Amino acid sequence: MKHIAVIGVGYVGLTTAACLAELGHHVTGVDMDEGKIVLLRRGDIPFSEPELPELVEQNVRAGRLNFTTSYQEAMQRADMAFICVGTPPTPSGHADMSQVEEAARQVALSATRSLIVVLKSTTPPGGNAERVADILARHLSPGINAPLVVNPEFLREGSAVYDTFHPDRAVIGAWDSAAAEAVAALYAPLRCPVLLTDPASAQLTKYASNAFLATKISFINEISRIAERVGANIHAIAQGMGFDERIGAEFLESGLGYGGSCFPKDVLALSAIAEQQGYYSQFLHAVTDINAGQRGLAVAKLGEVLGDLHGKAIGVLGLAFKSHTDDVRESPALSVISMLCQQGAVVRAYDPVATSTAQKVLPPHAALEYCADAYAAVRGCHAVLIATNWPEFRSLDWSRVHSSMAGNAVMDGRGLLSPDAMRGMGFEYLAFAN
Ligand code: UDX
Repeated sequence: MKHIAVIGVGYVGLTTAACLAELGHHVTGVDMDEGKIVLLRRGDIPFSEPELPELVEQNVRAGRLNFTTSYQEAMQRADMAFICVGTPPTPSGHADMSQVEEAARQVALSATRSLIVVLKSTTPPGGNAERVADILARHLSPGINAPLVVNPEFLREGSAVYDTFHPDRAVIGAWDSAAAEAVAALYAPLRCPVLLTDPASAQLTKYASNAFLATKISFINEISRIAERVGANIHAIAQGMGFDERIGAEFLESGLGYGGSCFPKDVLALSAIAEQQGYYSQFLHAVTDINAGQRGLAVAKLGEVLGDLHGKAIGVLGLAFKSHTDDVRESPALSVISMLCQQGAVVRAYDPVATSTAQKVLPPHAALEYCADAYAAVRGCHAVLIATNWPEFRSLDWSRVHSSMAGNAVMDGRGLLSPDAMRGMGFEYLAFAN
């Protein structure tokens, strides 16, 4: 059992803290956001994530999980400090390291004994791990050591707890092999492959993994553009490709493309890392461009069917960047809504959990209304656009939807529905290559 401080209790930090506590460690989560700490102490989670509220509540009650705004308090007995703060993109696409660097400084200033510092935040290789190690060394009291271990996080939103307890691998990059082994030992109960490597390789593994998954999505979207032109079906193609184990069946769902807090930012950051070293990655830029283009294509398809979008009512189903989360960061749904409003359409939007997060981000617009359920959103609409892969959209009573609409167009931006069944009900069914 270790005493562990977790710095930053956002998605990654809070999940890490709760899961480490569940494994029997004594964990203290630190965050500068006092409001968040008050919520967490009460057992409230500031975002929507399956299984996490119960896990936090259980471990707080068992006395293994605490929250504080004080580094001193969290660091008192810490054997390890996990840095889990954000690295948002700067306007040039680089990862902003300021929160990580400040966390490292605070950890070093409040450390009263030697400990291992684990960097979970996604940080670019090329000097950042070295800089964090240097900040630690400069601010530690004499006689105290704090070796740095880079241990990137691969969890997905919406299945964060499951992913943390069932990781595909742990990647551990360190200069100090004893520190690396100590972090590896934390993963022993999870029985996953552990890769011990150097910090730069660990950092780049994270970017390469996310960029590869984003590439699979942009690749299948590129193929869907070709498939559409030759009258082929993209779902059949993805299935046929996916049977090849070298390709794999996952991340071949074509549609509105990827969003979220990781893929868009990490592909841009990887391009920026390359450019900083004098290499322009045409490949990564293409991945980003294809992804951005899907949103405009969906709107253009609606425009083709409805003629002018001006004054047309469009029901948008889904606001979150994917199902099972209220996260709307970089959500394709929001870009599509902005485009529709810009073209004069009236938008009636619905999401099972992400309405309030969307309202905080999307500027209010006279032509944008949020609805309490899917049926209310589609009522009287000329067209419906499915923007998020929520399973409940698949199981709607689509004949009820059909009879309540003013038009009959459905743009299935997530490939959720059966084209034949929809056409059979009298819909003008639109999708990417279907
Ligand atoms: C991702 C990585 O999967 C995870 O390993 C990393 O730690 C963080 O980034 P996340 O952003 O939570 O996780 O979501 P993910 O499930 O990977 O989906 C990302 C986006 O890709 C979503 O917008 C999703 O709708 C889209 N997507 C996914 C597709 O468009 N097609 C697919 O086939 C799969």
